[in-house]
Amino acid sequence: MEIKKVGIVGCGIMGCGIAQVCAQSGYDVMVMDTKKEYLDKGLATIDKVLARSVEKERITADEKSAIQARIKGTLTLDDFKDVDYVVEAVIEDLTVKQDVFKKLDKVCQPHTILASNTSTISVINIAAATNRPDKVIGTHFSNPVPLMKVVEVINAISTTEETTNITRKFLESIDKTMVVSKDVPGFLSNRILTPFLLNAVRMVEAGVGTKEDIDTLITQGLRHPMGPLTLLDLIGIDTVYRGAMTIYEEIKDPQYLPPTLMKQMVIAGWHGRKTGKGFYEYK
Ligand SMILES: NC(=O)c1ccc[n+]([C@@H]2O[C@H](COP(=O)([O-])OP(=O)(O)OC[C@H]3O[C@@H](n4cnc5c(N)ncnc54)[C@H](O)[C@@H]3O)[C@@H](O)[C@H]2O)c1
Repeated sequence: MEIKKVGIVGCGIMGCGIAQVCAQSGYDVMVMDTKKEYLDKGLATIDKVLARSVEKERITADEKSAIQARIKGTLTLDDFKDVDYVVEAVIEDLTVKQDVFKKLDKVCQPHTILASNTSTISVINIAAATNRPDKVIGTHFSNPVPLMKVVEVINAISTTEETTNITRKFLESIDKTMVVSKDVPGFLSNRILTPFLLNAVRMVEAGVGTKEDIDTLITQGLRHPMGPLTLLDLIGIDTVYRGAMTIYEEIKDPQYLPPTLMKQMVIAGWHGRKTGKGFYEYK
């Protein structure tokens, strides 16, 4: 199967990054979100990231224009009739994702593969909402998508080898490296990362250390590129909270139960960089 056009659902932090890398690799891209302002924000982010690449002479101004011309925004999934591969990147909520996949299943052509960028939800829960569970797969990109090469691929028990092979070729074509995880809640990445992030919040909450000292300790002591509180702000406090709850509800391991401080930050709208305030403030 030849992939010509890619559909992206959700134009937030991840959706706009995935749209950008697909367009940079020559695919026509249709990106959908629920409100024009969300689409505009995502497309403005792509513009800013590409402008920086032009400044750094990684691409020319003409290439930037050509990449952007390949990306079209829409407010309806009805425009996904002619896409060959879909990556869903809406909020980390099973009901919302199932609803999106049901709609995609109706609108898309029979050959179209439906991938989810979920970071924690077992893919079978999403696949089972469609009449094509054999063509549903998890493609967990890393943030920021244009910079991070690795994608964690998750095969549900229903996913066929053909779907995995097409996904491998697709990821190679956008210059990503594929690693494979079993379809357990949280997969490999968030089974490992989530307890680390939650423990950092627990240390702040208990007053064991300041957020600045924790971040300095982890960057300078362990050589991580950023500290856990800075990373939480980058990922989105709401996204980590929802993901941790998903894992906790499935396996009831208390290390995945988000601390109260995180819950309160989610309610307050302190979701990190994307809302201008999280553990730190952003202009
Ligand atoms: N942020 C990260 O670092 C990261 C990394 C890997 C995977 N993920 C996963 O990617 C997905 C998206 O995360 P994000 O960080 O981009 O979130 P985000 O909050 O930045 O963006 C989500 C977008 O989805 C849109 N949306 C919500 N419901 C929708 C619907 N029904 N139809 C279309 N659009 C809808 C929202 O308007 C928003 O623009 C989540 O499943 C998340 O777990 C996130």
